[in-house]
Amino acid sequence: MEEERERWGSKFGFIMATMGSAVGLGNIWMFSYRCGRCGGAAFLIPYLIILFLVGIIGLMVEWTLGRKNKAGVLDSLINCGFPGGKYLGWIPIINVFLIFSFYAVIEGWCMKYMVMSLSGELMAIDPGPYFGNFVSSYEPLIWLAIGIIATVTINSFGVKKGIERACKFMMPLLLVLVVILMIRSLTLPGAEAGIAFFTKPDLSKITWDVWLNAAGQIFFSLSLVGSTMVVYGSYLRPKDDIPGSALIVALGNTAIALMCGFVIFPAVFSFGLDPASGPSLAFITLSSIFQQMVGGRFFAFLFFLLLFIAALSSDVSMMEPVTEVFVSHFKLGRKKVTLLLGFLAFLVGIPCALLGWFLDLLASVVTTMILAPIGGIIVAVALAWFVGVKHAREEVNEGASIKMGKWWEPYVKYIYPAIILVILILGILSCFGIFEATW
Ligand code: TRP
Repeated sequence: MEEERERWGSKFGFIMATMGSAVGLGNIWMFSYRCGRCGGAAFLIPYLIILFLVGIIGLMVEWTLGRKNKAGVLDSLINCGFPGGKYLGWIPIINVFLIFSFYAVIEGWCMKYMVMSLSGELMAIDPGPYFGNFVSSYEPLIWLAIGIIATVTINSFGVKKGIERACKFMMPLLLVLVVILMIRSLTLPGAEAGIAFFTKPDLSKITWDVWLNAAGQIFFSLSLVGSTMVVYGSYLRPKDDIPGSALIVALGNTAIALMCGFVIFPAVFSFGLDPASGPSLAFITLSSIFQQMVGGRFFAFLFFLLLFIAALSSDVSMMEPVTEVFVSHFKLGRKKVTLLLGFLAFLVGIPCALLGWFLDLLASVVTTMILAPIGGIIVAVALAWFVGVKHAREEVNEGASIKMGKWWEPYVKYIYPAIILVILILGILSCFGIFEATW
């Protein structure tokens, strides 16, 4: 007898799990360093435009494909007769697995810093050289293993008892942490300059590069790579509201990113530091801020705890689409599969943890610029062309509080995949240096 497919326990649980997926290092670490490098508030304009043009629709497209087929991306492609779906369906799955492997490395750094702030060691280091020595040592491997074990533990309990339950606890805590940190940062002397940097856009800063960064940010931040959100959608019930949830998750995710901007930029400006310092912003720049701030040790702990929770709830959403393939398609036991995948992720994580260039290559070029848009296009084409836009619209409107009108059909069939295609082409051109992008 066919084993019954797992389901989310409640609407709130689904929203917490998807918010857990969406809100991650992308919102805190990546958003702030990209925004800092792209001229502050200027970054927000393309970011918001792309959020509305592709982000919200993207969530609907991926959830709808999953719920319609009651399957993850591989089986969905096979079911709807996508040519070569049996093979192409692996692309988004392999991609999310690679993302998981490098993501867990950075999560490891966060745990290390969380423990150091708790012990007080963070207050005595020289942040720049310390971080350099740490990432070039073997120590990140230990943290990587701990992060993966935590993820495996949650995922091994399944969708409702593992992922949903953990996110229902972690996400409200995350919100409380962000609010406390934001109040601290906004009340620092000289916070106004940071607020201005983050709220007064200099339109001349909006170059192609900024658009591409914003697009990459939206896809990564909403976990839209063609795997996670498809499988999360496959656990939805017919009565669940897809468009309404897409709106809540997209706006909620952006709200958290903006709040994180109000944590980071006022503090950076208050201490006269550089907001454009890139990926090391959270580890080097902020560490030196915590060292000088009143109550710095306590706030450092809250900040790195925030990063850790955000990363862990995203990790589980990266592992799930891969686990689901082995559980539903190959009919293997969940506990065994999660253990094995955890081990494999550790192996792929080793070069990421030890070689900075490998981490950069995997994180920016391979997974984000190339494989993510490919996965996005595959899913859009599968839904619009093979399931068919008519059936897709019926499915998206099932249980919906705001029904999608006729416009939705041509939008999902032509405009949405075309926008992703443009992003993919720009990304590839920038890889060849034909077009310059700083990721
Ligand atoms: N959205 C998460 C973040 O902003 C990252 C993430 C979670 C993700 N699951 C994903 C990215 C699946 C791509 C694919 O940090």
